[in-house]
Amino acid sequence: QDNWITVANIADLAEDDVTGVEVNGLDIALYHTEDGIFASANLCSHGNARLSDGFLEDGEIECPLHQGRFCIKTGKALCSPLTEGVPVYPVRIEGEQVLLNLS
Ligand code: FES
Repeated sequence: QDNWITVANIADLAEDDVTGVEVNGLDIALYHTEDGIFASANLCSHGNARLSDGFLEDGEIECPLHQGRFCIKTGKALCSPLTEGVPVYPVRIEGEQVLLNLS
C-alpha cells in the first residue's frame, strides 16, 4: 500500500519523549526513542486520556490517567487496568521527515 503521509520533522520530536500529532483527523502519538521512532493511536484504550500526556520509558508508554502501560512497538496492553491494546502504525524516515502508513 502506498499510503505514506508526512506527519512531522524529526527535529520537532523531543528525544525520549512522546508527542501528539493530528493526521487526517486521527490523534496519533509519536515516540522518539533511541531505538527509533514509533507511532500509535493517542487515545488510551481504557478511557479518555491521551498517551502523549503520559510517561515514556523503556519502550513503554504509561497512561496519565490510571497508569496502564502499552508497548510502543506492538501496542499491546502490558498491565491492568488495560484489557485492550492500541493500534500502532508503520513508520518510515525520509531525510528529516517522519512518514506514517495509516492504511
Ligand atoms: Fe488509560 Fe485508564 S484511561 S489507563
